[in-house]
Amino acid sequence: MCGIVGYIGGQQAAPLLLEGLTRLEHRGYDSAGVAVIGGSGVKVAKQAGRVRDLTDHLPRRFAGKVGIGHTRWATHGPANDVNAHPHTDTDGRVAVVHNGIIDNAAALRKRLADDGVQLVSDTDTEVVAHLVAASVAETLEGRVRDALAAIDGTYGIAVVHADFPDRIVVARNGSPLIVGVGDKEMFVASDLAAIVRHTTTVAHLDDGELATITATGFTTFREDLTATGKQAITLDVDPASYDAALPDQWGHASFMHKEMLEQPEAAERVLRGRLDERFGTAHLGGLNMDARETRAIRRVKILGCGSAYYVGQMGASLIEELARIPADAEAASEFRYRDPVIEPDTLYVAVSQSGETIDTLLAVQEVRRKGGRVIGLVNVVGSAIARECDGGIYLHAGPEVAVASTKALTNMFVGFALLALQLGRVRDLSIADGRRLVAGLQELPGQIAQILAQEEDLAEIATGLAEAESLFFVGRVRGFPVAREGAQKFKEISYRHAEAYQTSELKHGPLALISPDVPTVAVVPHDELIDRNVGALHEITARRGPLVVVTHDDVDLGDVVATRIDVPRNERELDPILLTLPLQLLAYHAARHLGHDIDKPRNLAKSVTVE
Ligand code: F6R
Repeated sequence: MCGIVGYIGGQQAAPLLLEGLTRLEHRGYDSAGVAVIGGSGVKVAKQAGRVRDLTDHLPRRFAGKVGIGHTRWATHGPANDVNAHPHTDTDGRVAVVHNGIIDNAAALRKRLADDGVQLVSDTDTEVVAHLVAASVAETLEGRVRDALAAIDGTYGIAVVHADFPDRIVVARNGSPLIVGVGDKEMFVASDLAAIVRHTTTVAHLDDGELATITATGFTTFREDLTATGKQAITLDVDPASYDAALPDQWGHASFMHKEMLEQPEAAERVLRGRLDERFGTAHLGGLNMDARETRAIRRVKILGCGSAYYVGQMGASLIEELARIPADAEAASEFRYRDPVIEPDTLYVAVSQSGETIDTLLAVQEVRRKGGRVIGLVNVVGSAIARECDGGIYLHAGPEVAVASTKALTNMFVGFALLALQLGRVRDLSIADGRRLVAGLQELPGQIAQILAQEEDLAEIATGLAEAESLFFVGRVRGFPVAREGAQKFKEISYRHAEAYQTSELKHGPLALISPDVPTVAVVPHDELIDRNVGALHEITARRGPLVVVTHDDVDLGDVVATRIDVPRNERELDPILLTLPLQLLAYHAARHLGHDIDKPRNLAKSVTVE
């Protein structure tokens, strides 16, 4: 999705902006641009393509110590030079970058055109530049406020103006923006990654908040210009962990590969200091709930999108099994549209890698607006969802760059297991079962490493699967969300049609599609359903459907003809994550075999910050 970076201080802005944009490249974009205020006013350079292309074509005279930059993900109008941000007013004195969507852009464009303004791009953003230019307020803050008053929709915006060269004015409504504090220099970004090399002292703007940024500081205020007095905080993050994610410093074929292989250490990090062997429980200080409040929970509702939703389903099973609390997961993107009933004794759990997914954020806001309690399982520290929640569990997966989420999802599962354990132990889960789970969790990182070590064999199986135009991924109960996540990964990077089904539902319809051309990947945990699962596999092979079975080495498949993928066994409640890992590698190697750009899958972006 789109990215914003801004700089004001004693250095030349353009190189810093371009470097920041490079660090936002992983979000997905199709064009990039920068604007600086120099001696002769606002200068803009922008074009379709990579940040590298923009850097190569930057005009030689592009000096200025104040500037804004942007990577664009096309929403209004195609990816071309004109539609790239920054956008300017007719006189070229105002420049604006914008993330989000302006809902009433069409009406505003018409109104501006009726007033004689010539719009040059197809974008919604351009109207902001013209509206700022049209305001007669005395200050830039007043002019931005006037422009925003006309706008419906979501935005993170940054504005510079040749008549106010000592400042950048920014505003947030539904699209993340942070202000970074340096030494006599200040930054703006939509994502910490863009500025983390320069500062980790930041202020996160809230929705409806604006800020003025000068070289020496910042002030925050609401749209009615009353001050909000926000202070910067220093985040507990390691800037080097972002450096390690830069393309020139990794030794893998892609970010996804790097991140899959980081999973053993990532899992260790999310567990660190959170397991209590003696009492067979977990300690999650960030939940902000005492034992009495924890016991009062009658239901758990998990909200997430895409893969986070599927891991949420795994989490719901864990909570039901270990804590015996009714739990389910729902797609956050649908939740608020059905005017949900929010119950006071339900614990709502938002799960998100980025912490910025707008659908999940809006679901959290819906719960809170109706008085519900929400905790977050979030990877990005200080992100919008993390800040909006009443408490939570940080996932400590480290920066995740690849669009296809892997290590963050594994840590989400572990986070749910910790939550389920803690909830279970203040209720009826026995100390013996608690200790059993603690020991199982301690084993996970090593077992994850064992599965990753099978990469070569998995690559070969993936090559065969990649040939099929269409595949099924099946599983039941604990195995079903695993199948859903497996199908999701496969389709998003290999572009093959991969459909997840409950194994038990095959006979109610989809068996009609099973044929030698349609392989099935079946997830078969070693649990109480093993015999039924094996029975269903016969139904597939009887129709000459090629079969890959992801299971455990001690599972007897009888005379089922299948390619086996064996993963180690853990406690049955924790097995789903082990069964998920080979599916990541299958998707990855199928996509490689087909020659796709794995880190930049078509039509997908890393953080989905628009509805
Ligand atoms: C799939 C994938 C997406 C995300 C989803 C939620 O590999 O990455 O389906 O899981 O967009 O993103 P977050 O977790 O950032 O809220």
